[in-house]
Amino acid sequence: MRLLDIYAKFQKDISFIEKELERSIDVEHPILREASLHLLKAGGKRIRPVFVLLGAKFGNYDLERVKHVAVPLELIHMASLVHDDVIDDAQTRRGQLTVRSKWDNRIAMYTGDYIFAKALTIVTRLSEPSIHQIMSKALVEMSIGEMEQIRMFFHTEQTVRDYLLRIKRKTALLLAISCQLGAIAAQASEKTAKQLFNFGYNVGMAFQVRDDLLDICGTEKEIGKPPGSDIKQGNITIPVIFALQNPALRPVLLRELERIEASDGQTDVTDFLNMIRASEGVTRAEAMVSHYINKAIRSLEGLPDIQAKRDLVNIAHFVGNRSY
Ligand code: IPE
Ligand code: IPE
Ligand code: MG
Ligand code: MG
Repeated sequence: MRLLDIYAKFQKDISFIEKELERSIDVEHPILREASLHLLKAGGKRIRPVFVLLGAKFGNYDLERVKHVAVPLELIHMASLVHDDVIDDAQTRRGQLTVRSKWDNRIAMYTGDYIFAKALTIVTRLSEPSIHQIMSKALVEMSIGEMEQIRMFFHTEQTVRDYLLRIKRKTALLLAISCQLGAIAAQASEKTAKQLFNFGYNVGMAFQVRDDLLDICGTEKEIGKPPGSDIKQGNITIPVIFALQNPALRPVLLRELERIEASDGQTDVTDFLNMIRASEGVTRAEAMVSHYINKAIRSLEGLPDIQAKRDLVNIAHFVGNRSY
């Protein structure tokens, strides 16, 4: 199912959140406003705020309350992307120039900080300390995840565990707390919030593995940036970790990786990508995606059979198969 078709049922609420997002970054400072708006307007799937809305459907759904969580979660995501593109030297994102390439790295750092700060301003309109604690803890973990990614650049000895812990921190937790905080903001039971957290966590793991597969197997048109960006940067993702486990392939891949590292990411990586594409690294990573999606769907067992539950299942399937 296409995301648009899934979203169609609650399009009114999504449009409302979209307007609130625009309003939230409409500030006094022209460059901060322009740079933030540039990324917001470039689109994006808005999965995090949608998870908040759907999570809230399991409690007393009140959009006026829930927006104070939905908007910050998309803002936190956006801020992390602005910073991530600095770390990755990325030229394009969502098919548009990144903030760092349209302006520069310094402006991107403060634009990211600014968007983070806005997220915090909005969430404090809800008084529950648990909401603030959950959100700030996730932010801490995200920073650690991104730092770990830098530390592990071109680290060919890293394990599947290293990888899984890293993507849990940098990606899965934010999706997990999106579902959870939606439920908490709507006063759903603790058990429900926990189940939704588990759903978001497992979808999040699948989401990042899929993202890493797309960087290897996707086209520039699909992913809004040139494929191979991860490996040029030194980010060794799961299809590569699996491929490196093949004793026949390992020495060839190690030589290629040395060459890529020495070129400082300037070399052509087509040969490397083709080797990974043809390896069991891709099929094993795909199996991992299915594993997490199945686990996500099982996390919802026992929750009331409402439309939001079916929407979450459909989004999980979308994430499992996504090509953008
Ligand atoms: C991109 O996230 C960063 C990852 C966590 C992989 P999304 O794929 O959700 O980005 P947008 O918001 O749709 O652009
Ligand atoms: C996700 O990782 C970035 C964050 C969680 C901030 P990626 O580096 O894979 O994201 P893309 O591929 O640049 O969107
Ligand atoms: Mg990146
Ligand atoms: Mg990526």
